[in-house]
Amino acid sequence: MDITRIGIIGVGQVGMAAAYSLFHRRLASELVLVDLDLDRATGEAMDLLHGQALVGRTAVRAGSVDELTDTDLVVISAGVGQRPGESRLDLLQRNVDVMAVIVDGLDRACPDAVLLVATNPVDVLTHAVQELSARPRERVIGTGTALDSARLRSLVGERYDVDPQSVHGLVLGEHGDSEVVAWSTVSVNATPVLDREVLGVAWDPAAAEAISTRVRRAAAEIIERKGYTNLAIGVVISSLADAVLNDRRAVHPVTVRADGRFGLTDVSLSLPARLDRTGVRGIVEPDLVPDELDALRRSAGVLAEAASSLRLG
Ligand SMILES: NC(=O)c1ccc[n+]([C@@H]2O[C@H](COP(=O)([O-])OP(=O)(O)OC[C@H]3O[C@@H](n4cnc5c(N)ncnc54)[C@H](O)[C@@H]3O)[C@@H](O)[C@H]2O)c1
Repeated sequence: MDITRIGIIGVGQVGMAAAYSLFHRRLASELVLVDLDLDRATGEAMDLLHGQALVGRTAVRAGSVDELTDTDLVVISAGVGQRPGESRLDLLQRNVDVMAVIVDGLDRACPDAVLLVATNPVDVLTHAVQELSARPRERVIGTGTALDSARLRSLVGERYDVDPQSVHGLVLGEHGDSEVVAWSTVSVNATPVLDREVLGVAWDPAAAEAISTRVRRAAAEIIERKGYTNLAIGVVISSLADAVLNDRRAVHPVTVRADGRFGLTDVSLSLPARLDRTGVRGIVEPDLVPDELDALRRSAGVLAEAASSLRLG
């Protein structure tokens, strides 16, 4: 029988929000929850499983990385927190060391699976996983600015009083401080909002800047209030999983290796990528205005510098 198996490594807030969204979308016939805390993973699996009667059958169980054989997609959302006095670089290296162990197990258990990294700093860790794994780079994707772009589209939808699904627009580069809110790509349906009136709303640079700031500060604002972010990233993960598992060829801004796009070479950052069953199958290069292009290059510089500090072996 042909089953679709999804593994989730790290079933804390993000991993479980992803599991919940994947369960509702019925994207997998089996979800395998992997966590250092096996009791927690087992409890989460039991809890989610009981929703089957209402949503439809998805087998959900706790397991180990070794049990992820024949898995089609693995979400990596395992995170380690900052220790008192630990620098960001030390924390990054500790997360890379965790990834190295996970990737080693995944390369043995499911060498053909597409890996979707959500753990932060997502771009640098995706770069590390691309280096650590024996699978083709196209099979390693990071959630990158898919979440930031979703936030942008939601806020633009609010301003123009239009369904955010009718809004397009990209946040590119780092998922973090240097990210580029590319207003030249923002449109309502196919009508750009830059420098013109759309749906009775005039272009207002100050309002656009306020939205950009809200996008950049969204995670901090949410964490200040509830301690973590999980719900929207859960939905983002299941949308990306849908694109991959159903061979949709949908284009999403996700962390990929630039490989010469925009003149950028050995750096992983968010660009709009066409996703199919094999992972990344092509990158779209939007026409950015010069300021955005400069900002994207700066963002790439920040990421390249962080990646160059990693010890990968
Ligand atoms: N990419 C995004 O847009 C985005 C958005 C929100 C959060 N995040 C990131 O996702 C990560 C997880 O966040 P969270 O709120 O779920 O954290 P959390 O602490 O709630 O969960 C992390 C889980 O990972 C598990 N874990 C740690 N090491 C592991 C290992 N080696 N193998 C298996 N499991 C392991 C822990 O036991 C824990 O259950 C963080 O890095 C966070 O910054 C990313």
